[in-house]
Amino acid sequence: MKLLVTGGAGFIGSNFVHYILKKYPDYQVVNLDLLTYAGNLENLKELENNPNYKFVKGDIADFELVNNLVKDCDIIVHFAAESHVDRSILDSEEFIRTNVIGTHTLLEAAKNNGNKRFHHVSTDEVFGALKMDDPKFNEKTPYDPRSPYSASKASSDHLVRAYFHTYNLPITISNCSNNYGPYMFPEKLFPLFITNLIEDKKVPLYGDGMNVRDWLYVEDHCVAIDAIIHKGRIGETYCVGGDAEKNNKEITYKILELMGKGEDMIEFVKDRPGHDRRYAIDFSKIKNELGWEPSVSFEEGLQKTIEWYKNNEAWWKDIKSGEYAKYYEKQYGK
Ligand code: NAD
Ligand code: TYD
Repeated sequence: MKLLVTGGAGFIGSNFVHYILKKYPDYQVVNLDLLTYAGNLENLKELENNPNYKFVKGDIADFELVNNLVKDCDIIVHFAAESHVDRSILDSEEFIRTNVIGTHTLLEAAKNNGNKRFHHVSTDEVFGALKMDDPKFNEKTPYDPRSPYSASKASSDHLVRAYFHTYNLPITISNCSNNYGPYMFPEKLFPLFITNLIEDKKVPLYGDGMNVRDWLYVEDHCVAIDAIIHKGRIGETYCVGGDAEKNNKEITYKILELMGKGEDMIEFVKDRPGHDRRYAIDFSKIKNELGWEPSVSFEEGLQKTIEWYKNNEAWWKDIKSGEYAKYYEKQYGK
């Protein structure tokens, strides 16, 4: 099978490329990535000499390029996106360009080349925010995105479904909860907090720290996508979650404990505007239909993640002194 993976140099995409070439050594992967601030070829260094892996630097919104690459593949697995909510609050233009126009360009190319199989990687944030006692999100939850990021992803989901209904494009969609694990850019909660603590810096907890997310170890997400692209029903959406609802305070205390630091390392900072209170996923559909469920517990995943950041200081130090420093200045004005 020949896969065109978009955004394969980012956090989840690079974990997926590693996972797929390990599990199916005879598959071929072409990784199309623009190498924005979030894309990093260091994530894929071990694959440089693998004859079944090829990297192409380029934009998913470039129709000519995409059309040529799509011609030659059996399936498009679409990760590429602007993915950080806080950046979308500062400036959302790239979110619309990549997440909406880029996805549309890929869909057009898939349609143009004999209706190629298309898997769209999306997020649970399209469903909006839950109250503490609301039932979890599932595939039937109405869309209610509340940040420019989630609105752009919701828009891309609608386009993907529209291409199925209108043109019979063989699509599937996964709406997954928050991931954590290796190669996660250190602007997001887990890697930011872990690397700050390694550097003996405080961790910035937004608002009252009581916002809840449903955390999934990234490799389990890769296994879910593997199941969907091989066994998923065409036209269907699958919700993917970690069965690990935690509030940010709980997570912070757990990280502090595992890293031998005290609560004096917490700095409560101004809340994110429109900060969604809670996300949680009911993953019964993918469990019943495809036999998928998370295999890595939160405790195990957190330990593995801390170990990875401890063992890969060069990887994140480069990023933190470069791209992240620029963003930090915009976000915190210092
Ligand atoms: P990321 O920001 O780490 O990586 C995104 C990748 O896309 C980068 O390598 C970047 O260079 C590339 N990219 C951006 N714009 C591009 C363009 N115009 N053309 C080509 N490449 C481009 O993101 P991530 O956290 O790995 O998320 C991947 C996907 O999974 C996204 O679609 C995101 O919405 C979704 N998702 C993420 C999470 C999460 O917790 N991170 C959870 C659920 C779903
Ligand atoms: P994040 O990793 O940005 O993911 P999401 O897309 O779910 O917002 O943030 C996860 C949670 O952590 C979210 O509730 C915001 C919170 N958070 C902080 O408290 N401090 C931080 O510095 C960051 C980046 C996030």
